[in-house]
Amino acid sequence: DDPELLAAFQARIDAGEKIEPKDWMPEGYRKTLIRQIGQHAHSEIVGQLPEGNWITRAPTLERKAILLAKVQDEAGHGLYLYCAAETLGISRDEMTEMLLDGRMKYSSIFAYPTLTWADMGAVGWLVDGAAIMNQVPLQRTSFGPYSRAMIRVCKEESFHQRQGFDVMMKMCAGTDAQKRMAQDALNRLWFPSLMMFGPSDKDSVHSSQSMAWKIKMNTNDELRQKFVDQTVPQAEYLGLTIPDETLKWNDKKKGYDFAEPDWEEFFDVLKGNGPCSTDRIATRQKAWDDGAWVREAMNAHADKKAAAKVA
Ligand code: ACO
Repeated sequence: DDPELLAAFQARIDAGEKIEPKDWMPEGYRKTLIRQIGQHAHSEIVGQLPEGNWITRAPTLERKAILLAKVQDEAGHGLYLYCAAETLGISRDEMTEMLLDGRMKYSSIFAYPTLTWADMGAVGWLVDGAAIMNQVPLQRTSFGPYSRAMIRVCKEESFHQRQGFDVMMKMCAGTDAQKRMAQDALNRLWFPSLMMFGPSDKDSVHSSQSMAWKIKMNTNDELRQKFVDQTVPQAEYLGLTIPDETLKWNDKKKGYDFAEPDWEEFFDVLKGNGPCSTDRIATRQKAWDDGAWVREAMNAHADKKAAAKVA
């Protein structure tokens, strides 16, 4: 890339201007955005699976309606994000194929199973809570379409987090068995939720360049710390114990000291070895194959219309 163009581009970023799809941008900026937005879109779509799993088993009609609405929102988030990525010159088909053949990732958290109804509470509370912590700053990200998508997504994510916490409140005020289920869900999902923020800063390969370009606004460890500090009082309110014996308020840093997740497990999940990894991709592959006739029909219709216009 031409150094003068690069310097002018960086000056626009530093001045807080939004970069729009037709503006000049360095190839690395485009590639990083396609990777991050694409991964984010895939996460929203794959993220429907662990919760969709519980729609038919929700305990009341009200809970079912709420869960259904939430899972539909995730589909919408995936669609905005695919559209934002498409403005960078990649198609949704290409991104889907890259997910299916392992060239693109989705968030590690969705490689874990949802075993009981309490997991619907814990996923909303912790997973959507972590997602918001990461996405609120992304509303100010430098790429216009991504930033605008994040504004809409964050509004809906707040509702998702609240509904999850509400499920947890009900379970924790319920019978002993319900409270044990809530604790068990927290025990299983705590460390996978901390992994959502990505590897520790020293192992984060993309952070420094992505932050210079304002594709990312914070480091992984900064957001993980904020998440822990926000979540500990919520667990106390619920009367639940965070499964970390080292968790302790540190007055000097005005935040909690806490145990790191098992990074070996994290990198193993990224390689496709999570407990549900094979199942998730197989489900996406089936949906892709089952939808082939719709895509073909849409293309045939578009070709027919285009031919009619020419004639
Ligand atoms: N799950 C899967 N892969 C991850 C995760 C994770 N939790 N965290 C990091 N990685 C991958 C990165 O994609 C990168 O791999 P790659 O080079 O093959 O793409 C590698 O681990 C190294 O990590 P970083 O250098 O720290 O990567 P990055 O700068 O992209 O930071 C982060 C990761 C924080 C997840 C960033 O991409 C981001 O903010 N993304 C947008 C938010 C998002 O995707 N949320 C999805 C979950 S929320 C939801 O869907 C409800």
